Amino acid sequence: MTVATRDAVVTDFSLTTGLSATKRPLRRHVADMADMYADADAARVLAEQGTLVYEFFDMGVPHGSGEVAYGTSITYPGKVGDEYFMTKGHFHEVLETSEIYYCLSGRGLMLMENPEGHVQWEEFTPGTAVYVPARYAHRSINTSPDEPLVTFFAFPGHAGHDYGTIETKGFRKIVVERDGQPAVLDNPRWQEDV
Ligand SMILES: [Fe+2]
Repeated sequence: MTVATRDAVVTDFSLTTGLSATKRPLRRHVADMADMYADADAARVLAEQGTLVYEFFDMGVPHGSGEVAYGTSITYPGKVGDEYFMTKGHFHEVLETSEIYYCLSGRGLMLMENPEGHVQWEEFTPGTAVYVPARYAHRSINTSPDEPLVTFFAFPGHAGHDYGTIETKGFRKIVVERDGQPAVLDNPRWQEDV
């Protein structure tokens, strides 16, 4: 009987910046997600300036059942109006799949909500892991005034990504600065029936 062999995958990334010297990042600018922010006028100005919000690295592991996909995510400090920079956020196509995020540096929040409308959020600080339960859409939010939020993430390879649901409906909550502190408010642009 022959036994199939597979090559190990070796990747590099910095524990402090999250950046890889050998992998190419995927970048998302304000212009890629301007409709997601509550302050449309502020978003338009930053979109025209070409402002970068976040970048992430897919480390190139095969995406299939039995695999563990992983990478790093770097969300830069900044705000659109008073709303902190954030990732687009997504559900997994296979809803019953989870994900682990480990905060390497910076600070922020992981905002999560399930299709039934339960919302929760947890704090990111260096050395903290946030386990996103199955069925929950997830979005990283940088609440630091000056430091990138850097996380390492891993999820089942067959999970897939559903960005469209959040792109059309939004999250039920937004995170804004109030008196110098993050505050979680109802999203005025959230749409229930789309
Ligand atoms: Fe995910």
